[in-house]
Amino acid sequence: MADGLRSFIETLDAGGRLLRVTREVDPKFELSAVVQAIQRERNLPVLFERVRGTRFRVVSNVLGNYAIIADLMGVPQAEVARRWAALTAGTGSVPTAPGGDAAPALEEVRLFEIPSLTYAEKDAGPYLTASVIVARDPDTGTANLSYHRMQMVSDGELRCRLSPSGDLFRIQQKLEKRGEPLACAVLLGLPPALAMAAGATIGPETSEYDLAARITGQGIALREVGPTKLPAPRSTEFVIEGELLPGVRRPEGPFGEWMDYYTPVMDNHVFAIRRVLARKDAIFHAIVAGSTEEIAITAVPIAGSIFTAVRTWVSSVIDVVSYPALQFCVIRMKKQFEGQPRRAILAAFGAEMNRTLFCVAVDEDVNIHDWRDVLWAMGTRCRPDTNTFTIPGVPSFARDPHKVHWGRLGIDATRPLEHAADFERKRTPGIETVKLEDYL
Ligand SMILES: Cc1cc2nc3c(=O)[nH]c(=O)nc-3n(C[C@H](O)[C@H](O)[C@H](O)COP(=O)(O)O)c2cc1C
Repeated sequence: MADGLRSFIETLDAGGRLLRVTREVDPKFELSAVVQAIQRERNLPVLFERVRGTRFRVVSNVLGNYAIIADLMGVPQAEVARRWAALTAGTGSVPTAPGGDAAPALEEVRLFEIPSLTYAEKDAGPYLTASVIVARDPDTGTANLSYHRMQMVSDGELRCRLSPSGDLFRIQQKLEKRGEPLACAVLLGLPPALAMAAGATIGPETSEYDLAARITGQGIALREVGPTKLPAPRSTEFVIEGELLPGVRRPEGPFGEWMDYYTPVMDNHVFAIRRVLARKDAIFHAIVAGSTEEIAITAVPIAGSIFTAVRTWVSSVIDVVSYPALQFCVIRMKKQFEGQPRRAILAAFGAEMNRTLFCVAVDEDVNIHDWRDVLWAMGTRCRPDTNTFTIPGVPSFARDPHKVHWGRLGIDATRPLEHAADFERKRTPGIETVKLEDYL
């Protein structure tokens, strides 16, 4: 299991799963456009070796491919949700890895020396997008890690939005009430297991470091950063030390967000930069908002928590997926009695209130990691007039002024047990073992 981002990239490269762009690209739009084209056509991680205006390389779509995430977690794709559920059920902290070699040296740089990427036409300017803020809860001392996109305003200032449902917001509020700044650090270029853990909301008692350690089976080697000695992985590529200012909000945005719309300018939090540190030859991680990479990082924890909730009521659940669109959830289950899929769907809606709007339950013979197969099940096993149900008037996430994302739709696309024999999928013997290179 690769610990740092660099060794992960090397492993991907050795396995033929890293694309390289050697020609120079423009940080304004071009890099973002190329990443999106790659995601559409091949969906592999990509390393940009030359980006205009910076000496640092840029990597993107590191975690945009579900199969790569499954490998990272050491399971097949069909077991990712079950495995995540087991990892988050674990308690207690995992000791950090022993020091070993000295931590890599960090040199001080200016903010605008690091890649300053503009992603969409109407974005306010360059943004950090794979930026994970580490901060300590003042009451419990637990280190919290969460992603926050940050507008690069000047060498001394970043601006960001803290969702009111996140742990970082709660921590920041505690200090703001006392009129105190929140010391924190922005980490860029993290070990992949921690990059996954930082996308999960796991509550105030557990640190994302412990979750990451459970994913890898070993603790992550840490160093201390900033005056308050915040924990950061030794292998982190860039560290921006600073603090979130109390009672200060400044205009941030617009920014092309995860649903592919622009968030308007809003008065958001201000991060005052103390210093910016970079490893020698540091590799900058860029995540295109709303792309397969952001969706995958978010979808896996969602699938894990839905799996846990569904299993409480429907023990025959096999798998859950919320990728490649967070608003949709598909449950694969072995139906034991009519109506049971509705129980599963209700449990799923209860487990994830912010994003899941549409939930489909399918039988065990459907590949829920292939949307064509899910559509096939809906098209051939679901009576739209009787096997769907809506739950009206339920809000989802907070920032939805026009109530566009209210309500839920459940779709039972499981075959009727009474006529199950009529729904046997046709199969051509030998299809699983055909190797096209033997024929083409
Ligand atoms: C690429 C990416 C960017 C994100 N940007 C933001 C953001 O700007 N603001 C925010 O509140 N949440 C953002 N999120 C979601 C949070 O990181 C996520 O909800 C996290 O679980 C919150 O953790 P916390 O509850 O520990 O604070 C982003 C997630 C990803 C994967």
